[in-house]
Amino acid sequence: MSRAPIAAFRGLGVAVPSQVVTNDDLSKSLDTSDQWIVERTGIRERRVARADESLTQLTTEASRMALARAGMSAAELDAIVVATVTPDRRMPSQACDLQAALGANRAAAFDIIAACPGFVFAAGVAEGLIASGSYKNVLILGAERLSTITDWQDRSTAVLFGDGAGAAVLTPATGDGRGILSTYLKSDGRLAELLYIPAGGGMNPLTAENVNDRGQYMKMAGREVFKAAVRAMGEACDEALRRAGVTAEEIELFVPHQANLRIIEATAKHSNIPMSKVMVNVERYGNTSAASIPLALAQAEEEGRLKPGMLILLVAFGAGFTWGATVVRW
Ligand code: COA
Repeated sequence: MSRAPIAAFRGLGVAVPSQVVTNDDLSKSLDTSDQWIVERTGIRERRVARADESLTQLTTEASRMALARAGMSAAELDAIVVATVTPDRRMPSQACDLQAALGANRAAAFDIIAACPGFVFAAGVAEGLIASGSYKNVLILGAERLSTITDWQDRSTAVLFGDGAGAAVLTPATGDGRGILSTYLKSDGRLAELLYIPAGGGMNPLTAENVNDRGQYMKMAGREVFKAAVRAMGEACDEALRRAGVTAEEIELFVPHQANLRIIEATAKHSNIPMSKVMVNVERYGNTSAASIPLALAQAEEEGRLKPGMLILLVAFGAGFTWGATVVRW
């Protein structure tokens, strides 16, 4: 059932590394081609952070932009939630490093691990914090340096991923109808090993042997992930629309996770949303996991395709498996 929004998006910010890596660049070191990558994925290039370009730098730049657009200072933040699977270090959280860089000294700061739908999960967490009444101004981020967990010798994954960061400020809804209308978050941990990193956790710590076996990098069963993504994103769209009490025809802009153009097209088709209403920028950035939706939202805003008051649908799927969708009156 539809309800009045509790939390609303106030400002968006993004940052990407300056280094562009094209499909032709990759084909110099991998047995692949621009044609294969474009046909199977729609990706033409991606951003890859240099060794000295940290996630803290990217998230700080994205956050400053989001705060400026929200007309807010870092000192006014009550919470910072960073969705990432690639923090700069295992401890403390990426959110704490970001908090220090921003000087957001009043905020509670923590990370969530939800892989590609991380931004959608973070928005749901922010909505819950705001609903509790104890938090007003919440900064959320979807931010990744996937290049650090990508096996650059594995052509079946290396061509897919990229780096980037996106931030948004959420505040209590003001009663003008704008804000999050529904959130649907879901997971199925039984399917974890279709997309995962074998080594580096407590049960399989890094050793010379498993590093030699490249166990510190992502492994993926591409075809199974593809099928599961199409099924789960379709289900999430249906459920988020139902919970918001709106129809797919009412959606003015659809912003799906940018993993693969074919997955995006199949999801749009499932929901009966014409491609003219779908934001696509996978060709520029590849799959940036949790950063992909904010990067697409920011580009849509820049291009004048996303305006205040528009009804939008966000959906994503990723490792876990995790998936989710949200309907927002922007
Ligand atoms: N360049 C050239 N050939 C490649 C290649 C590459 N980068 N990667 C794989 N291939 C080859 C395979 O080795 C295989 O060759 P074979 O038939 O001789 O065995 C052939 O291409 C087909 O491989 P397959 O895996 O069946 O291709 P596909 O059509 O399923 O496309 C993906 C592969 C990875 C693009 C696709 O499965 C996909 O997008 N999956 C979802 C990935 C994803 O989005 N993950 C993140 C979710 S958040």
